[in-house]
Amino acid sequence: NADARGFTGKQRLLVVANRLPVSAVREGVESYRLDISVGGLVSALLGVKEFDTRWIGWAGVNVPDDVGQRALTKALAEMRCIPVFLDEEIVNQYYNGYCNNILWPLFHYLGLPQEDRLATTRTFQSQFDAYKKANQMFADVVNKHYEEGDVVWCHDYHLMFLPKCLKQYNDKMKVGWFLHTPFPSSEIHRTLPSRSELLRSVLAADLVGFHTYDYARHFVSACTRILGLEGTPEGVEDHGKLTRVAAFPIGIDSDRFTQALELPEVQEHMKELKERFAGRKVMLGVDRLDMIKGIPQKILAFEKFLEENSHWRDKVVLLQIAVPTRKDVPEYQKLTSQVHEIVGRINGRFGTLTAVPIHHLDRSLDFHELCALYAVTDVALVTSLRDGMNLVSYEFVACQASKKGVLILSEFAGAAQSLGAGAILVNPWNITEIAASIGYALEMSADEREKRHQFNFKHVKTHTSQEWAATFVSELNDTIVEAQLRTRQ
Ligand code: G6P
Repeated sequence: NADARGFTGKQRLLVVANRLPVSAVREGVESYRLDISVGGLVSALLGVKEFDTRWIGWAGVNVPDDVGQRALTKALAEMRCIPVFLDEEIVNQYYNGYCNNILWPLFHYLGLPQEDRLATTRTFQSQFDAYKKANQMFADVVNKHYEEGDVVWCHDYHLMFLPKCLKQYNDKMKVGWFLHTPFPSSEIHRTLPSRSELLRSVLAADLVGFHTYDYARHFVSACTRILGLEGTPEGVEDHGKLTRVAAFPIGIDSDRFTQALELPEVQEHMKELKERFAGRKVMLGVDRLDMIKGIPQKILAFEKFLEENSHWRDKVVLLQIAVPTRKDVPEYQKLTSQVHEIVGRINGRFGTLTAVPIHHLDRSLDFHELCALYAVTDVALVTSLRDGMNLVSYEFVACQASKKGVLILSEFAGAAQSLGAGAILVNPWNITEIAASIGYALEMSADEREKRHQFNFKHVKTHTSQEWAATFVSELNDTIVEAQLRTRQ
């Protein structure tokens, strides 16, 4: 609906995230293949029609030359995406290092890297410097494209330094920041050498959002205890300047899933899966292969269940989809071999000539295959050790209108606060408890399944990703109006 100059009459929303919703693969000097990924954030913003949205982020590819950068910028512009070019060294220090080896485990309560403490201390500073440098590069691109009246929405732990950089360019810029991971207890955040600098930078934003009330509370406590600032019911106050802090739980575009189930190709996949696993109950895990997802714990609990319930051994199968991720980070490489070893051992122990109890896939599924799999599943297992929200649990519920399967859900996933009443909640560290819950879920009466499903289905249908995004942005606009009124008083 834009005119020739791209003017739509809507407020412009600049969404800044480490990753663009498309990743580029270079195929020639000036040609790129663009792979679109419809993750939670993308589908959330696709549904928000009142803004004219543009994306700013890294396209996941190293493009050192000007010719290539110009060509990629042009190709991405058609998709309303603006690239930030990061070289290999920065990606290694900022993305693999500071983001995924330090902040990610820390925010999920796995602590700072323990191995070779001296080396860790030495590399820490250089990785933090690279982190700040990368955030400044994002800020430069935002600043170049910013127009008065735009709303800038920064996402996730990769960009905690960005709000400050943006406000240094222009303190009138409307800046929101949202964290997609947990924010840990202030006692955990205190261990981070750059704890204060990061908090101060996030506080430069006008609105700071988290998935749950607990994460917001932890953030406010960190600001009061570490920075000595004042926490108020509205947020954090620093010498009369208020940063609003609030919870905005994300959801999914549930219609996209329910509608997909009607498609002939999805029905065909469902038919194949039902035939393939006829006579067996299907249990499902879908996770990025990440240590926070508790995949070894889940598989060990399944082993315990089979050990203790011999009558179930040839009547149940666990399908574990483990999507490879962050392969350059050593911790992830170790996890891959660990999971393979456990799966191999259990299949060796309980498999027969014709069937194995665990099907483990090291890859992602396409959207239609995934929907079919969700729909034929009897019990979904989400055993994250910590998880910001966990949208797999929402997607499973959205696809279960006819089967009414059971969700076993970690109490340490943000989703436990919204789907807790319908799911069976477990402590993922307690393998005995998970094993018992598997038995309970497999034998649950149809009546109880129906009631639990209805509760969760209603929640998933009504708390959508579109509503989440629209609420955050309108609250950001309101926060700024309120701040202007306060300063006039
Ligand atoms: C989590 C993070 C996202 C990230 C995603 C995939 O959900 O909160 O910001 O994009 O994982 O991880 P990756 O490192 O591949 O971007």
